[in-house]
Amino acid sequence: MSDSFVARSLDEIRFWSRIMKEHALFLRLGFRCEDTQLIQEANYFFALFEQIEDQSNTFTLEADPQTIINFNTEVYNAASGIWVFKRKVLGLVLRCQLPGQNNFPLLIDHVSREANYFRNRLRELNTGTLEPLPDAIIDENVFFLRIMADHAKFIGHLLDPSERKLVAQAREFSHDFDQLLFQAKDLESMRPQSQTYPLLDQFLDQNRVSVKSLRDFKKTARELIEACRIKSIIHPLLADHVFREAERFLTIIDMFEKHLNAQARKK
Ligand SMILES: [Fe+2]
Ligand SMILES: [Fe+2]
Repeated sequence: MSDSFVARSLDEIRFWSRIMKEHALFLRLGFRCEDTQLIQEANYFFALFEQIEDQSNTFTLEADPQTIINFNTEVYNAASGIWVFKRKVLGLVLRCQLPGQNNFPLLIDHVSREANYFRNRLRELNTGTLEPLPDAIIDENVFFLRIMADHAKFIGHLLDPSERKLVAQAREFSHDFDQLLFQAKDLESMRPQSQTYPLLDQFLDQNRVSVKSLRDFKKTARELIEACRIKSIIHPLLADHVFREAERFLTIIDMFEKHLNAQARKK
């Protein structure tokens, strides 16, 4: 196995373990004071992913691939654990067993989808079964476009209703990303015939434009929230969290574009 296996594993783990740690914090903030058991479980996952994040920073690119395979397995189990916890919380909320708790069901489902994505990435890395590029392009975009559409919805619902302009902007982003998601689903159902260079290239270009503008909107929101210039119930860390996820999506789009162009040149 090559260096790139170590580099890719560490990159995924450094990014997503911080994200998982923050999910544990957001879930904890949404529980009621009396949900002490759930609060303890959330604290457990916060500490677990903090330790994983710290450990990932001690490895270098020269690390022994076997050590990283073992580390990936350990992190895979942690990601599976937090996925089970999130789905359990979703079940409790949907059965109205935590009346008055503060996390939207869609947000709980959303963070569980991210945990599932993370563990699939680790499994793919360890088994060396990365998808062919045209499939990866469609699948990753279907995943991330839905994530972005959800973020726009969360922002719109967590801003104070009196922030009418920003709420309207968030709603527009939600609509825009729902449309992009439908387009991606159409491309998905038309495959493999839809997996031509011009169609995939245009797909990436179009998505990039919208993700950039959502990323900039999130950046502005983050700054306004940090400076306490707008009214909302958005934790500053949540604003930064969704900004980082948009940046991640942009990096992935650019990486796909590079690989797609390299493949086109070879032909
Ligand atoms: Fe997240
Ligand atoms: Fe997210």
